[in-house]
Amino acid sequence: MTTSATDPTEIAFLRQQPVKMLIGGQWVPAASGKTFATINPATGTVLAQVAEGESEDINRAVAAARKAFESGPWPKLTPSQRGRLLWRLAELVEQHTTELAELETLDNGKPIKYSRAADVPLTADHFRYFAGWATKLEGETIPVSIPNMFTYTLREPVGVVGQIIPWNFPLQMASWKLAPALACGNTVVLKPAEQTPLSALRLGELICEAGFPEGVVNIVPGFGETAGAALAAHPDVDKIAFTGSTEVGKKILQASAGNLKRVTLELGGKSPNIIFPDADLKYAVRGALTAIFFNQGQVCTAGSRLFVHKSVYDQVLSGLSDAAQKMKMGPGLDPATDLGPLVSQEQLERVTGYIEAGKQEGAVAITGGKRAGSDLANGYFVEPTVFDKVEDEMTIAREEIFGPVVAALPFESVEEVAARANRSIYGLAAGVWTNDVKQAHKMAALLKSGVVWVNTYNQFDAAAPFGGYKQSGYGREMGHAVLDAYTQIKTVWVNLR
Ligand code: NAI
Ligand code: MG
Repeated sequence: MTTSATDPTEIAFLRQQPVKMLIGGQWVPAASGKTFATINPATGTVLAQVAEGESEDINRAVAAARKAFESGPWPKLTPSQRGRLLWRLAELVEQHTTELAELETLDNGKPIKYSRAADVPLTADHFRYFAGWATKLEGETIPVSIPNMFTYTLREPVGVVGQIIPWNFPLQMASWKLAPALACGNTVVLKPAEQTPLSALRLGELICEAGFPEGVVNIVPGFGETAGAALAAHPDVDKIAFTGSTEVGKKILQASAGNLKRVTLELGGKSPNIIFPDADLKYAVRGALTAIFFNQGQVCTAGSRLFVHKSVYDQVLSGLSDAAQKMKMGPGLDPATDLGPLVSQEQLERVTGYIEAGKQEGAVAITGGKRAGSDLANGYFVEPTVFDKVEDEMTIAREEIFGPVVAALPFESVEEVAARANRSIYGLAAGVWTNDVKQAHKMAALLKSGVVWVNTYNQFDAAAPFGGYKQSGYGREMGHAVLDAYTQIKTVWVNLR
């Protein structure tokens, strides 16, 4: 890599090698002594060695979380004190914006302009929003029809929560999981993705600095099949919150059966983005571009099925492919980069495999359609790809690609496009571009997905619920909807006679 703005060795956090895990307030190596390498996807070189957690480390972390939940300072903190800790953490995240953004970009590959302007500030925002909820977890008084009974409810934490997160937004995913769990008074064992463990571990240092008592947050990096599976099956874990593939979501659910732990799942998607002919096409094209290419398409809500009304199809497609060709591909640390590398060799192979499948089944890549060469050949770069001549039944129109690849599909009527958009095992998100208010609300009602964006795409806010229909998962994150996932209701009956 020639354009790097930052030498990884300039980041103090990366000078400690191997990077350790956080258990019971201590930074420790793996019980086995094993480490694994995390790779810089822009260059294919090793960024850091990280302690490799396995079932023994998970056991220790769960024991620390259990101890912190049952005794010690955490259960005695007032809601206000819990809120202050979360607020303090938000401030620390903000104060370390540059460092966290660089770590995120080095580990994941994403453009620094986004890690700086979105990933880190939205992470801070998430902690701040949930700091406010700590003091607002109210029960109810219930007017039961039995004389002399005073009946009320308490909203109590679930207990020890296991949280397993993916590599596409490592820091934000950590905050989506940690903030509501902690606001509600739970303790946590967090397992970051093996591709991108660094920012969550640095966040762990900030959690210690903020003053969270030991054992409240434990962070165990490691692989899914070992550390993740051990956490999902652990008999002393009360709940698992998972974001990742639908395939692994099903395994998590099976593993949860042992002790009937609660499970919430945020899984894959194949989201339709629908452009009507009356839309403001300049914005719709730009919206279609960012819907699929933001974060190299590695977004669960990526607008990967682009439905365009027949009458404007050619115009939209040529606008989209022109704009895609103008995107600057390069190492994430280069401030001019629009499109960074994919996260890993595995993801590179998966995405280029889908591109080949698309071509074989008869679709035509009018832009992109291959891995990037020349000075980017060592990294995991794939050109932004727009497929024309796609049929609904083709693999690229049905399966989640999780890369910068969009399948364009012409349509003729509202009813037709709604039915085709809904013909998917997934139901995470959808976009609608139209200036007709009746058509907009009609589509919002017809689409079977957890979120519908009208004349915009990929909007997220800590206050707005997010989650899936169908095999995109269940449970909601963000807003007050997530509080149900991290609390349980106790009903108390008092005989006043
Ligand atoms: P994955 O679902 O395997 O990984 C996500 C997390 O689950 C990681 O922390 C991983 O270590 C953990 N994990 C893996 N196997 C596990 C197991 N048996 N038990 C417990 N935890 C386990 O996703 P992967 O392999 O990285 O990507 C595969 C595909 O999944 C992607 O191409 C994409 O289609 C989809 N995906 C969707 C995401 C989303 O945000 N909805 C995020 C990441 C991947
Ligand atoms: Mg996997």
